Amino acid sequence: MSFPRERPRRLRGSPGLRDLVRQTRLGVDDLIYPLFVVPGEGVCEEIATLPGQHHRSVDRLAEEVGAARSEGIRAVLLFGLPERKDPVGSEASDPEGAVQRAVRELKERFPDLVVITDVCLCEYTSHGHCGILDGERVDNDATLGRLAQVAISHAGAGADLVAPSDMMDGRVGAIRAALDQAGLDGTGILSYAVKYASVFYDPFREAARSAPAFGDRRGYQMDPGNLREALREVRLDLEEGADMVMVKPGLAYLDVLAAVRRVAEVPLVAYNVSGEYAMVRAAAERGWLREREAVLEILTGMRRAGADLILTYHARQAARWLGGA
Ligand code: PBG
Repeated sequence: MSFPRERPRRLRGSPGLRDLVRQTRLGVDDLIYPLFVVPGEGVCEEIATLPGQHHRSVDRLAEEVGAARSEGIRAVLLFGLPERKDPVGSEASDPEGAVQRAVRELKERFPDLVVITDVCLCEYTSHGHCGILDGERVDNDATLGRLAQVAISHAGAGADLVAPSDMMDGRVGAIRAALDQAGLDGTGILSYAVKYASVFYDPFREAARSAPAFGDRRGYQMDPGNLREALREVRLDLEEGADMVMVKPGLAYLDVLAAVRRVAEVPLVAYNVSGEYAMVRAAAERGWLREREAVLEILTGMRRAGADLILTYHARQAARWLGGA
């Protein structure tokens, strides 16, 4: 009989003891801050579905990144919106596009900042799908060349990592080959390897103005019931040359994070997506939930499940609460 000899409560007796024996630690170094860049000048508009997050033009981005830097945040991930959309998302690979200009600006202003870019077409296509259409179907192989062009334009602007989020088969290999051929072998790939077709992206689609004009994304994003398939996606992306992999969303997929952690030898990122952020903000606004405690518990849970890094809209709040400055 272990009790009364074993008393787990002994190690919970004081804040000092609890801090000392805590297994999973959350630090500001673990956070990546997502940002939305838009064309134009002087733009800084709050996103209705993501209170506290903004659409920013390139000239208004550095002030936000500077503030985040001073709070200890070392990495950002950029999403771009175009001036004009068309069926092939032409502006996504424009060297003068908002994202490409933002990368150059941030790298110049903050040389030690890690700049990651989202590579996808959905924000840039008139139909809102993540690839090139053949009728109403997203044509996988026809999309790969476009994604490679987008990745080259981001890497050429100076991105440290490009992060394809489209879920086409073979895109990591196609992007790797194209980057290498362009002499950009030093640019890494953070693959959204495991991305489920999730309702928790709803607030993002407003933020990125990327809701599909017809149908949904279930023909390319993963079915929420599947775990084995996550391991297959990770294996394929690593074979194709991914340097880091992501699981997305985070909260409803902590078992997937844990499973991927067991097989992947590369850094693993969890995406604490827009819907997860919006739920906490909304409940906190009503006074139904204490925001600080909720956010830190959720982020700790993702770390405990196996994430090395967390991409989160809560990054600046969390950095302040963690006292990383
Ligand atoms: C684009 C993309 C999406 C998100 C990241 N990249 C939306 C989608 O797939 O519909 C979602 C991010 C979030 O919800 O915070 N493919």
